[in-house]
Amino acid sequence: MSALAEELTIRDVRPADLDAVAELERISFPIPWKREFFASEVGTAHRFNRVVRAPNGMLAGYVFCAFAAGEIHVNKIAVDPRWRRQGIAGLLMKEVLGLSARILAEEIFLEVRPSNLPARNFYTLLGFREVGRRPQYYADGEDALVMSLFLQPRRP
Ligand SMILES: CC(C)(COP(=O)(O)OP(=O)(O)OC[C@H]1O[C@@H](n2cnc3c(N)ncnc32)[C@H](O)[C@@H]1OP(=O)(O)O)[C@@H](O)C(=O)NCCC(=O)NCCS
Repeated sequence: MSALAEELTIRDVRPADLDAVAELERISFPIPWKREFFASEVGTAHRFNRVVRAPNGMLAGYVFCAFAAGEIHVNKIAVDPRWRRQGIAGLLMKEVLGLSARILAEEIFLEVRPSNLPARNFYTLLGFREVGRRPQYYADGEDALVMSLFLQPRRP
Protein backbone atom coordinates (compact mmCIF):
# COMPACT_ATOMS: atom_id res chain seq x y z
CA MET A 1 0.00 0.00 0.00
CA SER A 2 2.77 2.44 0.81
CA ALA A 3 4.17 2.34 -2.75
CA LEU A 4 0.67 2.97 -4.07
CA ALA A 5 0.06 5.72 -1.52
CA GLU A 6 3.13 7.57 -2.78
CA GLU A 7 1.58 7.76 -6.26
CA LEU A 8 -1.78 9.04 -5.06
CA THR A 9 -2.79 12.62 -4.38
CA ILE A 10 -4.84 13.20 -1.24
CA ARG A 11 -6.17 16.71 -0.74
CA ASP A 12 -9.17 18.80 0.25
CA VAL A 13 -12.21 18.63 -2.02
CA ARG A 14 -12.49 21.54 -4.47
CA PRO A 15 -15.51 22.68 -6.49
CA ALA A 16 -13.80 21.22 -9.59
CA ASP A 17 -14.05 17.74 -7.99
CA LEU A 18 -17.81 17.85 -7.58
CA ASP A 19 -18.86 16.35 -10.94
CA ALA A 20 -16.65 13.30 -10.37
CA VAL A 21 -17.73 13.03 -6.72
CA ALA A 22 -21.40 13.09 -7.71
CA GLU A 23 -20.80 10.44 -10.37
CA LEU A 24 -18.96 8.12 -7.96
CA GLU A 25 -21.71 8.71 -5.40
CA ARG A 26 -24.35 7.75 -7.98
CA ILE A 27 -22.76 4.36 -8.65
CA SER A 28 -21.90 3.70 -4.99
CA PHE A 29 -25.14 4.32 -3.09
CA PRO A 30 -28.77 3.22 -3.59
CA ILE A 31 -29.97 6.71 -2.61
CA PRO A 32 -27.14 9.04 -3.63
CA TRP A 33 -26.59 12.54 -2.35
CA LYS A 34 -27.12 15.13 -5.05
CA ARG A 35 -24.23 17.21 -6.37
CA GLU A 36 -25.69 20.34 -4.71
CA PHE A 37 -25.53 18.63 -1.36
CA PHE A 38 -21.82 17.95 -1.75
CA ALA A 39 -21.34 21.49 -3.06
CA SER A 40 -22.93 22.92 0.08
CA GLU A 41 -20.37 21.02 2.20
CA VAL A 42 -17.31 22.39 0.40
CA GLY A 43 -15.90 25.48 2.07
CA THR A 44 -18.34 25.24 4.98
CA ALA A 45 -16.98 25.61 8.51
CA HIS A 46 -16.32 22.49 10.57
CA ARG A 47 -16.10 20.20 7.58
CA PHE A 48 -13.31 17.84 6.54
CA ASN A 49 -13.70 16.73 2.94
CA ARG A 50 -10.89 14.88 1.16
CA VAL A 51 -10.42 13.24 -2.21
CA VAL A 52 -7.92 10.69 -3.46
CA ARG A 53 -6.83 11.19 -7.06
CA ALA A 54 -4.96 8.50 -9.00
CA PRO A 55 -1.77 9.38 -10.93
CA ASN A 56 -3.85 9.75 -14.12
CA GLY A 57 -6.12 12.22 -12.33
CA MET A 58 -9.04 9.82 -11.94
CA LEU A 59 -11.06 10.18 -8.75
CA ALA A 60 -10.33 7.06 -6.67
CA GLY A 61 -12.33 7.98 -3.57
CA TYR A 62 -13.65 10.64 -1.21
CA VAL A 63 -14.65 11.21 2.38
CA PHE A 64 -16.96 13.96 3.66
CA CYS A 65 -17.06 14.66 7.41
CA ALA A 66 -18.52 17.23 9.81
CA PHE A 67 -17.02 17.87 13.23
CA ALA A 68 -18.03 19.71 16.41
CA ALA A 69 -17.68 19.41 20.17
CA GLY A 70 -15.16 16.58 20.10
CA GLU A 71 -17.11 14.44 17.64
CA ILE A 72 -16.46 13.70 14.00
CA HIS A 73 -19.35 12.47 11.85
CA VAL A 74 -18.38 10.64 8.68
CA ASN A 75 -21.17 11.64 6.30
CA LYS A 76 -19.85 9.88 3.23
CA ILE A 77 -17.03 7.63 2.15
CA ALA A 78 -16.78 5.89 -1.21
CA VAL A 79 -14.13 4.34 -3.42
CA ASP A 80 -14.39 3.81 -7.17
CA PRO A 81 -15.11 0.11 -7.86
CA ARG A 82 -11.89 -0.09 -9.94
CA TRP A 83 -9.92 1.01 -6.87
CA ARG A 84 -11.61 -1.04 -4.16
CA ARG A 85 -9.69 -3.51 -1.97
CA GLN A 86 -6.48 -1.55 -2.46
CA GLY A 87 -6.51 0.36 0.80
CA ILE A 88 -7.99 3.64 -0.49
CA ALA A 89 -10.76 3.80 2.13
CA GLY A 90 -8.13 2.95 4.72
CA LEU A 91 -6.08 5.93 3.54
CA LEU A 92 -9.12 8.20 3.74
CA MET A 93 -9.92 7.06 7.28
CA LYS A 94 -6.27 7.65 8.21
CA GLU A 95 -6.84 11.25 7.13
CA VAL A 96 -9.90 11.39 9.41
CA LEU A 97 -7.83 9.97 12.27
CA GLY A 98 -5.28 12.71 11.61
CA LEU A 99 -8.04 15.28 11.99
CA SER A 100 -9.22 13.61 15.21
CA ALA A 101 -5.73 13.98 16.68
CA ARG A 102 -5.52 17.65 15.66
CA ILE A 103 -8.89 18.61 17.15
CA LEU A 104 -8.58 16.19 20.11
CA ALA A 105 -11.81 14.45 19.14
CA GLU A 106 -13.24 11.85 21.49
CA GLU A 107 -15.33 9.96 18.98
CA ILE A 108 -15.76 9.29 15.28
CA PHE A 109 -19.20 8.00 14.35
CA LEU A 110 -21.26 7.18 11.27
CA GLU A 111 -24.38 5.46 10.05
CA VAL A 112 -24.26 2.34 7.90
CA ARG A 113 -26.91 0.11 6.40
CA PRO A 114 -27.16 -3.31 8.10
CA SER A 115 -27.11 -4.78 4.57
CA ASN A 116 -23.79 -3.09 3.74
CA LEU A 117 -21.53 -5.90 4.87
CA PRO A 118 -18.36 -4.65 3.09
CA ALA A 119 -18.58 -1.30 4.88
CA ARG A 120 -19.47 -2.87 8.24
CA ASN A 121 -16.50 -5.19 7.91
CA PHE A 122 -14.24 -2.29 6.98
CA TYR A 123 -15.32 -0.18 9.98
CA THR A 124 -15.13 -3.12 12.40
CA LEU A 125 -11.55 -3.78 11.33
CA LEU A 126 -10.73 -0.14 12.12
CA GLY A 127 -12.09 -0.62 15.64
CA PHE A 128 -15.60 0.83 15.20
CA ARG A 129 -18.32 -0.80 17.28
CA GLU A 130 -22.10 -0.78 16.88
CA VAL A 131 -23.60 1.58 19.45
CA GLY A 132 -27.16 2.01 18.22
CA ARG A 133 -29.75 1.70 15.51
CA ARG A 134 -31.85 4.42 13.87
CA PRO A 135 -35.15 2.90 12.70
CA GLN A 136 -36.06 3.62 9.06
CA TYR A 137 -33.21 6.08 8.76
CA TYR A 138 -32.91 5.72 5.00
CA ALA A 139 -35.56 6.94 2.56
CA ASP A 140 -36.21 3.37 1.39
CA GLY A 141 -37.08 2.35 4.96
CA GLU A 142 -33.89 0.51 5.91
CA ASP A 143 -32.62 1.10 9.44
CA ALA A 144 -29.17 2.53 10.07
CA LEU A 145 -26.64 1.06 12.43
CA VAL A 146 -24.66 3.68 14.32
CA MET A 147 -21.00 2.73 14.58
CA SER A 148 -18.50 4.59 16.76
CA LEU A 149 -14.78 4.64 17.28
CA PHE A 150 -13.97 5.99 20.73
CA LEU A 151 -10.66 7.82 20.97
CA GLN A 152 -8.47 9.09 23.77
CA PRO A 153 -10.26 11.40 26.23
CA ARG A 154 -9.83 15.09 25.47
CA ARG A 155 -7.12 16.86 27.34
CA PRO A 156 -8.29 19.85 29.38
C1 LIG B 1 -16.75 0.33 1.84
C2 LIG B 1 -15.70 0.91 0.88
C3 LIG B 1 -15.59 2.40 1.15
C4 LIG B 1 -14.34 0.22 1.17
O1 LIG B 1 -13.36 0.84 0.34
P1 LIG B 1 -11.99 0.10 -0.06
O2 LIG B 1 -11.03 1.13 -0.53
O3 LIG B 1 -12.27 -1.04 -0.96
O4 LIG B 1 -11.52 -0.46 1.35
P2 LIG B 1 -10.03 -0.91 1.75
O5 LIG B 1 -9.32 -1.44 0.53
O6 LIG B 1 -9.36 0.19 2.49
O7 LIG B 1 -10.40 -2.13 2.69
C5 LIG B 1 -9.79 -2.35 3.95
C6 LIG B 1 -10.37 -3.63 4.53
O8 LIG B 1 -11.80 -3.50 4.72
C7 LIG B 1 -12.43 -4.77 4.46
N1 LIG B 1 -13.27 -4.72 3.26
C8 LIG B 1 -13.28 -3.76 2.31
N2 LIG B 1 -14.17 -4.08 1.34
C9 LIG B 1 -14.69 -5.29 1.68
C10 LIG B 1 -15.62 -6.15 1.06
N3 LIG B 1 -16.19 -5.86 -0.13
N4 LIG B 1 -15.94 -7.31 1.68
C11 LIG B 1 -15.36 -7.63 2.85
N5 LIG B 1 -14.45 -6.86 3.49
C12 LIG B 1 -14.12 -5.70 2.91
C13 LIG B 1 -11.28 -5.75 4.19
O9 LIG B 1 -10.87 -6.31 5.42
C14 LIG B 1 -10.20 -4.84 3.64
O10 LIG B 1 -8.91 -5.37 3.76
P3 LIG B 1 -8.39 -6.46 2.69
O11 LIG B 1 -8.73 -5.94 1.32
O12 LIG B 1 -6.90 -6.53 2.96
O13 LIG B 1 -9.11 -7.74 3.00
C15 LIG B 1 -16.07 0.62 -0.59
O14 LIG B 1 -16.43 -0.74 -0.72
C16 LIG B 1 -17.20 1.47 -1.14
O15 LIG B 1 -16.97 2.57 -1.67
N6 LIG B 1 -18.46 0.98 -1.04
C17 LIG B 1 -19.61 1.70 -1.59
C18 LIG B 1 -19.91 2.93 -0.75
C19 LIG B 1 -20.18 2.58 0.69
O16 LIG B 1 -20.85 1.61 1.00
N7 LIG B 1 -19.63 3.41 1.60
C20 LIG B 1 -19.81 3.24 3.03
C21 LIG B 1 -21.15 3.77 3.43
S1 LIG B 1 -21.43 3.67 5.18
